[in-house]
Amino acid sequence: MAEFVTVATTDEIPPGERLVVGVGRKWIAIFNVDGTYYAIADVCTHDDGPLAEGELHDCVITCPRHGAEFDIKTGKVLKAPAMVDVPTYPVRVEGEDIQIEV
Ligand code: FES
Repeated sequence: MAEFVTVATTDEIPPGERLVVGVGRKWIAIFNVDGTYYAIADVCTHDDGPLAEGELHDCVITCPRHGAEFDIKTGKVLKAPAMVDVPTYPVRVEGEDIQIEV
């Protein structure tokens, strides 16, 4: 059953920053875009590239490996060579804790 787990505190991810956390067997990238947090799998669906190492413009992350683009709000793939959306995870803030539902 899905549950929210605390993965970081708000001071660890200020606006414009990102953090990769391990939850179970998953690597998840958490982004702070102007105070709103988004969480996606840190694994590109093309060839497992580390998405959190890519450049972020607005809410579009570019995979550093071959340049695929994803919307971090929805996980939708926006540009090839990736063809499959990347998983996203709900995020909530409880006090100073950032929690994601996995
Ligand atoms: S691994 Fe991300 S575009 Fe190829």
